[in-house]
Parts: sequence; C-alpha cells; structure tokens
Amino acid sequence: MTKTIFGKPPTIAVLLVATVLAACGPGKTAKEPAAAAQAPAAAPGPVLAAVPPMGFNTWNKFSCEVDEALIRQTADAMVETGMLDAGYKYLVIDDCWQVDRGADGRIIADPKRFAGGMKALADYVHSKGLLFGLYTDLGAKTCQGRPGSLGFHDVDAATYAEWGVDYIKVDWCYADDLNAPKEYTSFRDALRRAGRPIVLSICEWGRNDPWTWAPGVGQLWRTTADIGDNWESLVWIIGANSRHAEAAGPGGWNDPDMLEIGNGGMTFDEYKTHFSLWAIMAAPLMAGNDLRAMTAETKSILLNKEVIAVDQDPLGVQGRVVVERGYGGQVWMKPLADGSKAVVFVNYTNAELAQYVRWSQIGLPAGPAKVRDLWAHQDMGTHTDTGVKYDERLEVKIPAHGVVMVRIWPGQ
Ligand code: GLA
Repeated sequence: MTKTIFGKPPTIAVLLVATVLAACGPGKTAKEPAAAAQAPAAAPGPVLAAVPPMGFNTWNKFSCEVDEALIRQTADAMVETGMLDAGYKYLVIDDCWQVDRGADGRIIADPKRFAGGMKALADYVHSKGLLFGLYTDLGAKTCQGRPGSLGFHDVDAATYAEWGVDYIKVDWCYADDLNAPKEYTSFRDALRRAGRPIVLSICEWGRNDPWTWAPGVGQLWRTTADIGDNWESLVWIIGANSRHAEAAGPGGWNDPDMLEIGNGGMTFDEYKTHFSLWAIMAAPLMAGNDLRAMTAETKSILLNKEVIAVDQDPLGVQGRVVVERGYGGQVWMKPLADGSKAVVFVNYTNAELAQYVRWSQIGLPAGPAKVRDLWAHQDMGTHTDTGVKYDERLEVKIPAHGVVMVRIWPGQ
C-alpha cells in the first residue's frame, strides 16, 4: 500500500498541501492561480475514502478501558500481525479519552491515561505507518458522559488538526433535538477550515435517514443501532444496511457498525458470515477485537485478502441480494472493477443448506466462467451456464449460519 501521512496517493496530498499553502501562506499575490488564491475557507477537501475505510476501533472490546499503552501496543500489533499490510490503517480511540475542557474551551485528554498527550500518541501511530483517529459527540456530552462538541466545532476541529488526527467518529448522544444534517455539515465545515484532511465518521445510528444527506458530508455513516456480538444482531444489521445500497459509492459508505470478529460471542462460521457480508456490502472494516491476542481462526478471517479485495474494490458498488429464497437462503452479488462478480450464498438456517445461482441472476453472460472460492482459497474450475438447462446452475452447500463466497470471471 502507499504510505503517506494522509494515506492518500502522493499526488492528492501534494495538491492539497499546495492549495492550503497557497490559500493561507504569506506573500499571496494577485499573480497566483485564481482558484488557489480565492479558495474559500470551507473548500471541498480531497476524496478521503475512495474505498471503504479500514482500521481498528477500541469500543467493541475495550469500551472505556482505553489508555496510551493500549494504543501503542495495538499500533505495534497492527504492523506485526500484517493488519496494516492487509489495509487496516486507521487506529481509532472511541469514547472516554476526554475528561474536561480548559478555560480556553479546548478539550482535555485524560491526563492519567494519556499522560504523554494526544499529539505524542498520534506521532507514534504515524511513525508506524498508521493513521490516527478519535471520537466525539455533537451533543453537550458523549454517550459515556464525557464533554461533547456542542458549541465547540471549530475549537475541536483545530485541536484535532494540531494533534495530527486523521479520522473523527462523531456520535449523537444528547443531540436528539438538534438537526442532524445541519450539525454534521457544520462539523464538516469546521474540519475543512482546520485545514487537515480528516475522515468524518457520522454516527447517528440511522435515526435521521443519513443515506439521504450524508454523502458529501461524511465519508461513512452508521445505518443502524449498535452491533452486538451475537448472531441475532448480525442478522438484523445486515437486513437494515442492505436497504440503502444506492447511497454508497467512492467517497461515502453505509456503515453497519464495527466488526465483532474475535470477541467470542459467535461461532467461526458466523464470524465468516459477518466478514463476508460486510465485504459484499462495501462496508468500512473496523476491527473491534484485541489485536494483541488473536487466534489463528480470527486472523484467517480478518486477514483474508481475497475477501478484503471485494470490500475494497475500486468500482465501489455496495452489493445487493439478487436471490431471496423463502426458506432462509440468500444470494448476494457485487460487481467488481475487472468485470468479475463477487457472490455470497448465505444460510440463515440452523442446518446445512444447498443453494444455487444462474448466471442470468448475477449479470453474467451465458457461457463459461471461472469460479474461485474465497474462503477455501481454491479455484473451483470453469463452470458453464448457457441458460438452457436447469442442471447447469452453480450449486453449493452452505453450513448453518454460514456462507460460501466466490468470485466469478466470465470467459474461459
Ligand atoms: C454509541 C456508538 C458506539 C460507541 C459508543 C461509545 O453507542 O454508537 O459505537 O461509540 O456510543 O459511548
């Protein structure tokens, strides 16, 4: 992967820095390019999430038990386990890092848990080739009762920029009487004025139909209530997030919440379903487990590069259900940039299930196509479906609560 401070190709980062310098720097003259010299304070930033953001967030595993040792160790683990190489680059501290505001209004990090300060911690995270994220809330308080950003959008954005923050998750507790599109847009504009590209992760749990207004405001927006580390939660979230596929695309993504893989509440097959569905829905992939102590099974899921490639595909289409069986089976399809199709067969039942798909149902031309199993990491050979006979269908056996995930390329 390209490693730059902003996690963007150098050309974009260089252009941005040049624009900021041209707009703010000393000695500006009328001879400078008009666009740069007249850039408004809230000029649009670069595309910050051309593909769904990937990283780690403290909340699902550690809730309020966060401190700088955990963050440093997690940063080390992200490099050592291969998570960074696989694409997980944002290391985000969720709620509870903040304790107060100073007389000047500036947010104060917990001086005991983050004794070295956020700037030094961000520097450490950056030194590992990672990007650094924090959490706030648009209400007066965060969900855990810490100081929120109500009335402090510009102060907070400027502070984050100074600390080297690259990603901010913005929650919605104590904010129900506010106007969500207006408030999140105000926060976005404050981030732009602060002059540093910072991913804005909108977290109002789908309460204000964010799929209708969040594209262009944030780079990801939660579509549902909080995930739980259990099968029922997974099923409800998949259903809810699947309804807004049309809103997703390069630069802005539906967020069905962070991953629970490795936290112990689901079976291996259920966690594979979790990861496969997040990938086919082009969801942000924010690991939520203890990266310092991963089992081989957990690693085999989070580090499955063939599934990650489906999530991160540059075409940026959120996959959809193309076949809805009436008995607990679904087939999903996501078109990919190279003309191939990712397909997930899901089994919601408690017993093994056989399911099939026809090429006509997944947008493939009649004829031969190469099939690869993305969990077995095996080619399944060429399968031919001319659309004439029933037994030409591609059929697979799926374990209970599990998936079969394949990628199919048309042609020989
Ligand atoms: C809300 C969010 C969670 C998490 C907690 C922290 O519930 O939806 O993802 O950030 O707040 O308090």
